[in-house]
Amino acid sequence: MKIGIDKIAFYSPGLYINLSDLAIERKIDPDKFLIGIGQIQMSVPSMMQDTITMAINASNKILTKEDKEKIDLVIFATESSVDQSKSGATFIHKLLELNNYSRSIEIKQACYGATAGIQLGYSHILNQPESKVLVIASDIARYGLDTAGEPTQGAGSVAILLTKNPSILEIENKSSYYTEDIFDFYRPNYSDLAIVDGKYSNDKYQEFFSKTYNAYMGKYQMSVNDFDAFCFHIPYTKIGLKSLRMIADETKSPNLFENYKLATIYNKRVGNIYTGSLYLSLISLLEQGNLKKNDRIGLYSYGSGAVGEFFSLRVVDGYKNCLQKASHEKMLDSRIQLTIDEYENIFKNNYTETLKNKIKNENTIVYFNGVVDHKRIYLK
Ligand code: HMG
Repeated sequence: MKIGIDKIAFYSPGLYINLSDLAIERKIDPDKFLIGIGQIQMSVPSMMQDTITMAINASNKILTKEDKEKIDLVIFATESSVDQSKSGATFIHKLLELNNYSRSIEIKQACYGATAGIQLGYSHILNQPESKVLVIASDIARYGLDTAGEPTQGAGSVAILLTKNPSILEIENKSSYYTEDIFDFYRPNYSDLAIVDGKYSNDKYQEFFSKTYNAYMGKYQMSVNDFDAFCFHIPYTKIGLKSLRMIADETKSPNLFENYKLATIYNKRVGNIYTGSLYLSLISLLEQGNLKKNDRIGLYSYGSGAVGEFFSLRVVDGYKNCLQKASHEKMLDSRIQLTIDEYENIFKNNYTETLKNKIKNENTIVYFNGVVDHKRIYLK
């Protein structure tokens, strides 16, 4: 039975900054962010947005009434959770008006969570072929003002509908994964900012890539030549490029490098969205690229702490008709630009009337309206 991605969409908040503005403010050469890190813009979440609102905005782009009736497993992957006990999937379940006869859970393993969700969803459909599984990745990346991690922040959500006989991508039953207990990047319960050892995290990311990629190639007797494109977890686009260079030569395989460029167009404008970053890159490749039926895409998922996985997908004939390209481009093009001063005020939760008026125009179908009796309130 073929199982895979039938629908896929993303949402990123309607406010952003230019990284060249941030570099100038921080007295850094803009080329460090634009070329050295490989990022152009960064989405900024206001107080109206959290992982739930972003998830609803992303899911709403793809789900029909029939999908909502057939979804019997909702997997919410996040590392910016809104509650320590109640899963984000239960909030989402109500706001999306899903069928109550379903399982709803939240998964956490840093940026790797959505990949675990996809693999669980695959097994669920294998056992119950008529069901549909909704996997949502949603996160806000926060390192702090004037930190080394600052240009690699971002916010956004990706919604993925898994079914049998999918319209976009078939999941190949091939993968290899690797775990180690390390402290490269983590966020203790008492902190709303991530703690990161930047250089160590880069080294571990690449080491895990090498381990999982080589294990996959050995297990299935395959090589780089069996792939038409690669997508990476992208905290910033330069790291994926460096990883691709570990396995391919630009002069011998120019197509792989051209496809990598296309796979980073959206990520360069949104920033790191943790669990959703790999899948945002996948959407960028599908919508901006020109893959053909049966093309094989290799995906590298990495979540600090740390777990890595390399797996693969095959392109389904006619996939282009099932994408949301125009809606995604319009969403990014219509975001409101913030000054660095405004961005810093949002970061510090310091909202002036002028800032509130600017934020009012943000494109969102649901917003977070505060906490009453310890309960989070969402309004449409
Ligand atoms: P940094 O120390 O500010 O930057 O930190 P740098 O000095 O390493 O420079 C970055 C690059 O810019 C270098 O290129 C410089 O040469 C270049 P490279 O050597 O890497 O090829 N550069 C310039 N290029 C052009 N013109 C210039 C210029 N100046 C310098 N003028 C770092 C960078 C990414 C470490 C930092 O931003 C950071 O700590 N970010 C957060 C951590 C991170 O993203 N780690 C990635 C791996 S871990 C991961 O992916 C998991 C994660 O998503 C979390 C999760 O799993 O939940 C983070």
